[in-house]
Amino acid sequence: MFAQNEPFGPGGVSLPQGGPLYLQLKRVIEDAVASGAIRPGDALPSERDLALKAAVSRVTVRKAVQHLVRDGLLVQRHGSGTFVAPQPARVEQSLSQLTSFTEDMARRGMEVRSVLLDSGISHPSPEETMALGLSPGVRVARVARLRLCGGNPLAIERAAVSADLLPDPADIGSSLYAHLEKSGHRPVRAIQRIRATNLDPADAALLEIAPGSAALHIERVGYLASGRVVEFTRSVYRGDTYDFVAELRVGEGAQP
Ligand code: GLP
Repeated sequence: MFAQNEPFGPGGVSLPQGGPLYLQLKRVIEDAVASGAIRPGDALPSERDLALKAAVSRVTVRKAVQHLVRDGLLVQRHGSGTFVAPQPARVEQSLSQLTSFTEDMARRGMEVRSVLLDSGISHPSPEETMALGLSPGVRVARVARLRLCGGNPLAIERAAVSADLLPDPADIGSSLYAHLEKSGHRPVRAIQRIRATNLDPADAALLEIAPGSAALHIERVGYLASGRVVEFTRSVYRGDTYDFVAELRVGEGAQP
């Protein structure tokens, strides 16, 4: 159990002040996990004990814990209590290199597995037509995959490619880029947009995380050397495991 000086030790829990009480308590628990004061697998004091220690109501404790369970920081096991959830290893992804998922993970020595969720050739949506620059009547090949790394679900990728460049979407094997490379259609340049999102229940279930959890929505438009768009991919990455890292430099002639 917790020593005297540990956040949930015999002494009280001092809240940081400011904002709703449940958010203050939530912050204390987040900080305790981030600082390593409590570690994955550690049990939290009972709702009753935590309420006493923090001098708040049990409703406040329950609300703080519910939010932390939703965010994936805590897990509740029926009949045995609330525990710090296993924290999946964080993956840092450079934003300067045009690489494939397989290459990103291979560079980290991580084993990649993909589950084909859906694939086929069909009429493009207006968005796909726009993004891929498709002429009327041209069909689109779609490939939706759950990407796992080290056995943990990390991302859902929904790729769209003009059907003439990917006539066999079900046969891409483990890597779309490696497959496109065989026909000389691997993208050489891409525009990538990243924005925050909250997972809908279906995607959350696939990524084994609570619905509504924070995630990264990534849209990549990949170009061939000719300038033709080859790939329009929308992906959602678990927000608790993925960091995008960009190296920034002072621009030509810009004053530091
Ligand atoms: C990344 C990109 C996708 C791209 C994929 C290809 O994850 N975000 O836009 O389609 O890599 O990866 P692979 O070649 O492993 O299928």
